[in-house]
Amino acid sequence: MSAANGVIDASAGLAVWLESLGGQVLRVEEPLAVEYEVTALQHALDRAGRYPPVWVRKPQLADGGIAAFSLATNLTASRRLVCAALGLGDSRRAAAWWAERQQQRAAPVTVPAEQAPVRSMVLEGGEADLRRLPATVQHQGNPGPYLTAAHATTVDPESGIDNSAIQRCWIKEARRMTWFPYPNSHNARNMRAWHGRGEPCPVALWVGHHPAVSVAAQVKLGHPESHWPAAGGLLGGPLRLTPSLHFGDRLKVPADAEFVIEGLAHPGATGADGPFAEYTGFLGPAVDAPICEVLSISHRPHAVLHDCGSGLADNLVPDNIAMEGRLYSLAKAVSPRLLNVHVPADGRRFLALLQFDGAPPGEVRDALAAALAWRRVKTAVAVDADIDLFDARQVNWALATRFQWDRDLIRVDGLSTSLLDPSLEPGRKTASKAGLDATLRVGRGVPPVAHPDAAALARAEALLSRLADSAAMDAWPAC
Ligand SMILES: Cc1cc2nc3c(=O)[nH]c(=O)nc-3n(C[C@H](O)[C@H](O)[C@H](O)COP(=O)(O)O)c2cc1C
Repeated sequence: MSAANGVIDASAGLAVWLESLGGQVLRVEEPLAVEYEVTALQHALDRAGRYPPVWVRKPQLADGGIAAFSLATNLTASRRLVCAALGLGDSRRAAAWWAERQQQRAAPVTVPAEQAPVRSMVLEGGEADLRRLPATVQHQGNPGPYLTAAHATTVDPESGIDNSAIQRCWIKEARRMTWFPYPNSHNARNMRAWHGRGEPCPVALWVGHHPAVSVAAQVKLGHPESHWPAAGGLLGGPLRLTPSLHFGDRLKVPADAEFVIEGLAHPGATGADGPFAEYTGFLGPAVDAPICEVLSISHRPHAVLHDCGSGLADNLVPDNIAMEGRLYSLAKAVSPRLLNVHVPADGRRFLALLQFDGAPPGEVRDALAAALAWRRVKTAVAVDADIDLFDARQVNWALATRFQWDRDLIRVDGLSTSLLDPSLEPGRKTASKAGLDATLRVGRGVPPVAHPDAAALARAEALLSRLADSAAMDAWPAC
């Protein structure tokens, strides 16, 4: 499978990919409890501003035993790592790259089960026990172990067209778990269509794959529209699929996944799910979710369970990159002078930053209005080409010095939004949104920027590198 800047070999499995990163992976060789400890490590890394993938070699289950499978988390916490996995060298150019790639399609190839690594081991009946998986209990207030990076694949019964989305599952019993597709998600729509016929909904949950596949399979599409060619388009080559064990060609699954869990969601079978951490950083309330009755678990020989830190960068980064691509397409359509878009993880998908190169009057506001129309974006900020979108200090500087509320603000009320935004009062279904134009326009007569002397700056940087070992260098962080 080829990608823009090299070759992505997505067939080798997560263990091989993690090994290929060598010392850039945080390998934890001592036992680490799946209950709280794995996620606490992610929080500790986040507080230290560090985002390596974490490979927990001996996950400790709730009964004290060591799981037969290792666990990998934080695989998508670093923007740079996600982009590198996708074959994109410059992580600052992801918006334009994604906007272009999301238009492309590459049809998948289907291989027989005998050639599918994920079908190497098949567990059915009493052997299929979800409780043997190192599923994590992530945060205080969570009710039990969750699969947090499971891609649920369903098909629309009318057209037979597939849909895939990461959707959490709370493991309740050996072969019983809730599976939570948001009510307006395409998987929920497919499920309701099966139930409308009085039939159970077949569902395959595939967990763990090369991170590029995991990210690409989540591309946002219309309904019904297959995710497989769209994932192939983003990856730069076809994805390998195989017929599922129970549903055959009617429901195909990625041949190179780590695990595939197949099951049925019966009409009327629901159970409590949550509270669970959301991308907002808050715990979402318990909801009613479909129950998935598990028929089988198949896996690779040394399968690695992919876990995703909910509410952490791990959860935010991939979807935010996809948002950048979508916003770039929307805003570029009305603003040829748009340079770049960034959706910073700490803005939680509610904040978008747009950069322009001297756009004429009206154009920046057009682009801001286009960005505000996209789903969760609540605040869109426009800056000039000299402002680094990836440096919050520079964006703050632009807002502080290039913006007037009476002149540079657009406010639009009553737009659609995510109901997970905790600032919405109960019952409210729309958001009040704002665009802030912090670009300078010609003729404003702004003073020149205060720059240091270039030669003196080069000498100062050389001096600092010679003094790098001085205790003073680390003694006084900004706060
Ligand atoms: C880490 C992560 C966890 C997610 N958890 C859920 C979830 O539990 N339920 C859900 O419906 N969507 C979840 N999503 C979003 C889905 O992947 C998907 O975007 C959404 O279900 C809409 O899917 P659709 O475009 O097929 O309608 C999650 C996304 C990520 C990146």
